[in-house]
Amino acid sequence: MNKKYTIVCLLGAFLQLNAFAQKSVSKGFALAQKQTEVMLSSIDQAKNSGNVGVTPRSLTANGDLALVPSKDWCSGFFPGELWFLYQYTGQEKWLKLAKTFTAFIEDQKTNGGTHDMGFKIYTSVGNGYRLTKDPHYRDVIIEGAKTLSTRFNPKVGCIKSWDNRIWKFPVIIDNMMNLELLFEATKLSGDSSFYKIAVTHANTTIKNHFRANYSSYHVVSYDPETGEVLKKQTHQGYADESAWSRGQSWALYGYTMCYRETGDKTYLRQAENVAKFILDNPALPQDLVPYWDYNAPNIPNEQRDVSAAAVMASALYELSTYSTNGKLYRGKADLIVKNLTDRYTAGPGTSKGFILLHSTGSRPANTEVDLPLSYADYYYLEALLRQKHLDDKKPVVD
Ligand code: GLY
Repeated sequence: MNKKYTIVCLLGAFLQLNAFAQKSVSKGFALAQKQTEVMLSSIDQAKNSGNVGVTPRSLTANGDLALVPSKDWCSGFFPGELWFLYQYTGQEKWLKLAKTFTAFIEDQKTNGGTHDMGFKIYTSVGNGYRLTKDPHYRDVIIEGAKTLSTRFNPKVGCIKSWDNRIWKFPVIIDNMMNLELLFEATKLSGDSSFYKIAVTHANTTIKNHFRANYSSYHVVSYDPETGEVLKKQTHQGYADESAWSRGQSWALYGYTMCYRETGDKTYLRQAENVAKFILDNPALPQDLVPYWDYNAPNIPNEQRDVSAAAVMASALYELSTYSTNGKLYRGKADLIVKNLTDRYTAGPGTSKGFILLHSTGSRPANTEVDLPLSYADYYYLEALLRQKHLDDKKPVVD
């Protein structure tokens, strides 16, 4: 009797969790479609008022839409969202829009002035190629990878992140996200130099960016002549020795992706260790939406960073398919997307068409604090699609 009861309860709990998951996907994408229609009108209005930007990034302090030019690191996320809407619905309308907005930022393939090539070109053109196999997109990815490779310094073993800052050769943990473009470029071109750069960057970053507890520094400053580490600091976190939340999510996503691309178990272990740092962190709230820094001084009276939660959810879905801790990661990712969907979404028709509220761009600079951000919306939709793929027994990344 007891055994039967336990089985019935377990089955009930499983079905309920599964129903939650399916509900998040359909609810999230229904809202995303409505909000994106609103966003398209907001973009038109902003352009008609003289704004020369091409894609949305956030809201200004006055609540206006902040449109950015193609060179901004966030320019690819909205085109990427349009590709996700096309993927989910199969509707020509979204395909057309995705192509249009992707075309606005393709010029970035030759911009060698930053490391953000993956953020811009892989989220937009990369998704475009994945879904259409258009050879033009293939060429853009390869050209973007060539441009990004010019920032690699073999002495350091890394791609340089920023120019014209206080550091001579800064590398930020975010840069792990740009490696996916390099892996793809090797697959598309047969040129293994992109793959080698990606692996070298990932290995150098494991060596120098992480503390013993697997939290990551934000910025590591190198001597470009000798490759020596000069400083380990923060830029968007609370302190040099703190754990900036989005940075931890970039690390989790980056090493999960590196394991997918290489099969190297070092990367899998790194991703699992980063996941442990995040998920066991006493500063992680019960709803799994982090404060902007795991060491922010006034927790629980600190702003959240929904973007860090969205990136984490997407990464955990993928990691769940590679790791022996898969069930744990899947459950956590489901909980994040359920909470984002139920508690952190914008009301329909509000916030100029952004989907999620309460992200933090840079708390130290007091910019984009407690606001919507295009990358939160992008990784949220990616997470929903990954959840759907897992439910449909398809590969989590196609
Ligand atoms: N890659 C910049 C940021 O995460 O804010």
